[in-house]
Amino acid sequence: MKIAMIGSGYVGLVSGVCLADFGHRVVCVDKDASKIEALRAGRMPIYEPGLDTLVATNVAAGRLSFTTDINDAVAGADAVFIAVGTPSRRGGGHADLSYVFAAAEEIGQAVTKPVVVVTKSTVPVGTGDRVETILREACPDHEIAVVSNPEFLREGAAIEDFKQPDRIVVGTDDPRAQAVMTEVYRPLFVNQSPILFTGRRTAELIKYGANAFLATKITFINELADLAESVGADVTQVARGIGLDDRIGPRFLNAGPGYGGSCFPKDTLALLQTAEESDVSLRIVAATVEANDLRKRAMADKIADALGGDLAGKRVGLLGLTFKPGTDDMRDAPSLAIVPALLERGASVQAFDPEGMEQARAMLPGISMCDTAADAARDADVLVLLTEWDLFRALDLHALARTMARPILVDLRNVYDPSIVARAGMTYHGVGRGDLSKA
Ligand code: UDX
Repeated sequence: MKIAMIGSGYVGLVSGVCLADFGHRVVCVDKDASKIEALRAGRMPIYEPGLDTLVATNVAAGRLSFTTDINDAVAGADAVFIAVGTPSRRGGGHADLSYVFAAAEEIGQAVTKPVVVVTKSTVPVGTGDRVETILREACPDHEIAVVSNPEFLREGAAIEDFKQPDRIVVGTDDPRAQAVMTEVYRPLFVNQSPILFTGRRTAELIKYGANAFLATKITFINELADLAESVGADVTQVARGIGLDDRIGPRFLNAGPGYGGSCFPKDTLALLQTAEESDVSLRIVAATVEANDLRKRAMADKIADALGGDLAGKRVGLLGLTFKPGTDDMRDAPSLAIVPALLERGASVQAFDPEGMEQARAMLPGISMCDTAADAARDADVLVLLTEWDLFRALDLHALARTMARPILVDLRNVYDPSIVARAGMTYHGVGRGDLSKA
């Protein structure tokens, strides 16, 4: 199959290279000439494990190429994927669809034969209808089917998620488009990945439903963590105890500093917006958004509490700045709320992140960036583990404690066994782990 991928950002690039790896001929398009130039030279615009090797292999095999010329990519394509960004519009949760509509317009003008246009970008319910109208007007001569095919990729595990998905959702009632999409994803059927055909609007809502549910699940365990802390229970065991119930499931029950990233915060807001426009109240999602926002800043209080309440003049060592490990993405990272709150209260911050330093430097002025975890701990009054990079899972706590002004660890990801931390001579504060002697 010949496939055009419009938008070579995170989703477009990962999807494009994986589809090429399935054996399709894929052309990835982007308006940003420097990005295309970099990709052609084998330099990745994002950090994603395994991506560079997979790109190199597929380029060498002649199945994957990069261009700024949308006409070239779309001409003769069997399927054209739209994977451009849908950022939140300023002043509200509305998704900004201008890139999606502009892409649809350009695709319409470039089409040379009947084609299936697939929306991969996360778009509010009903966007597929608008994309279809734009395409029809731009291209009255050829038959164009518009399909919603949401992605469920986690940053840091995106290639694995693409190649071994829990499910593939294809929203279209058009049998020809269903046949093309079946062909696109056929290589996945050997893994028995289920393909779910639905209506287009249903597919669009599945994506928002999944993200809002996961965000709610995390927020639920985070609130339970607050309660566990004050009643003297251990939320990690509560999570295990409830997660073993199949109806609940063990995943996404790790209490922490609040969810961040490019999807959950943006998609929950966009879903609320859709609901408001339809005069429906989604009270649980609204509460999730509010609780998560409050939580991120509240983590600064938690750090202050570990220091006896006062942050003025205190030095905070921070391990991890990105919203999660395995990525250099800083979008809506908890660090963006926690760090300013620490600085406002008079603390100084010294931080280390294995991949996010470059991005973080511009977004978090006023903190000093360190080259190693040991540097971030040196002379600190408290060490805060904020992102659970593997590198931080087996720190030499004995050695770190000796270099700190006060050996206190605030483990916002519950990575460490409190008794091991205590043996290393450090005071331990986790999330939702009350007085563990009574838990
Ligand atoms: C998410 C969805 O998982 C993915 O399906 C969708 O397509 C895009 O959004 P991603 O944003 O890459 O993927 O990250 P994810 O691993 O889901 O984590 C999101 C946030 O939740 C992170 O800030 C993470 O630290 C937090 N989280 C996740 C928790 O705090 N606890 C958990 O148990 C799981």
